[in-house]
Amino acid sequence: MKRIAILGSTGSIGRSALSVVEAHADKLEVVALAAGANVALAAEQVKRFRPRCVAMGSAHSLGQVLRAAGDARVAAAGAGKEGLLAVATHPDVEILLCASSGTAALEAVLAAIEAGKTIALANKEVLVMAGSLMTEAARRCGVSILPVDSKHNALHQCLHARPASEVKRLVLTASGGPFRGRSAEGLRGVKPEDALRHPTWKMGRKITIDSATLMNKGLEVIEARWLFDVAARAIDVVIHPQSVVHSMVELLDGSILAQLGVTDMRLPIQYAFSYPERWESPLPPLDLTRCGRLDFHVPDHRNFPCLGLAYRALEGQGGLPVVLNAANEVAVEAFLEGRLRFTAIPELIERAMDGHHPTAVTSLDAVRRLDGWARAYSNDLARSLESRI
Ligand SMILES: NC(=O)c1ccc[n+]([C@@H]2O[C@H](COP(=O)([O-])OP(=O)(O)OC[C@H]3O[C@@H](n4cnc5c(N)ncnc54)[C@H](OP(=O)(O)O)[C@@H]3O)[C@@H](O)[C@H]2O)c1
Repeated sequence: MKRIAILGSTGSIGRSALSVVEAHADKLEVVALAAGANVALAAEQVKRFRPRCVAMGSAHSLGQVLRAAGDARVAAAGAGKEGLLAVATHPDVEILLCASSGTAALEAVLAAIEAGKTIALANKEVLVMAGSLMTEAARRCGVSILPVDSKHNALHQCLHARPASEVKRLVLTASGGPFRGRSAEGLRGVKPEDALRHPTWKMGRKITIDSATLMNKGLEVIEARWLFDVAARAIDVVIHPQSVVHSMVELLDGSILAQLGVTDMRLPIQYAFSYPERWESPLPPLDLTRCGRLDFHVPDHRNFPCLGLAYRALEGQGGLPVVLNAANEVAVEAFLEGRLRFTAIPELIERAMDGHHPTAVTSLDAVRRLDGWARAYSNDLARSLESRI
């Protein structure tokens, strides 16, 4: 049995992960769960999967879950960051799936690495913020960080421990989101409900907006840089509206290896859990005869500047990715609350990056300090841009 802990068990990835556990109950066991505020679902999960401990975003929610779980006899791991840390480093945990949204799990993931846990990483924000610290700690502790994000999972499958000297470039595919092909004018008036309608994937709200602005692909470029230790110039993005090819690797001789599959996150989650083995999947296989055409286009950098901003952050000095990530979170929240135009999202991020004086971020404290500054600065920018709505 592989013993699993999940941060963010009530979210889109967390629920899919539990469905993978159910499909492979003879191989996977849930040891610890952490969620934010969804008490009803967390309590249901505790009753069903009987983890040894549970954590919630607040002490109040945790108390409610424990009461609702009744005779499930689950221990309280804690609330807030303390709870995430306790779940991530629980002595019985072998694999930690980090599927919480935002950046709250940063310290918990780093502590899990130090404790020797294998990391199945869905949350890209923690790697964008602290990629160097995470990968250095993983190398030092001999810990694997296995990508759950479907694109990086695809790259991991194609690379298959191939020497770096044989690899020319990584090619991340992007669906292009719901606004692919729109002009700048056509993007100005889009509403949160339009942006939340993703054409091919069902995901949480924040990542769905990131997909609409192409920031999701930008974050993925940064994630790929750290996961696979490649320079930004060796990572390309192509728009592939059908989302059948999940990503590709070009080798020195020009051969391109691709991973194809159904658009269901249970597949990459299962692969991260089963790795290095492969298990049968209960999902219907991809029927190539029904896929139709497969298109590949160059991204529209002019109308979707977020992707270019991510490359700039990666190539720049100091903590620019931290600023990019914080500014993006502030901008997306303001957009979802109807306080900011869709087209103001990249504008806010760019201004926050322009306002940053390069500083070295060589510790978690430095990352958190810069993140705090970037959020405060971005909130001020959001207020100044709000007046244009
Ligand atoms: N969804 C996808 O297909 C997909 C694909 C690739 C990568 N990812 C990445 O995976 C992560 C999760 O995405 P998602 O779509 O699953 O998000 P989601 O549906 O919004 O779920 C977020 C989860 O995180 C929990 N959470 C949020 N803040 C928390 C905190 N402070 N402490 C503990 N738990 C907290 C939420 O709990 P409550 O709901 O209980 O509040 C929920 O369980 C993101 O980083 C995303 O970029 C997602």
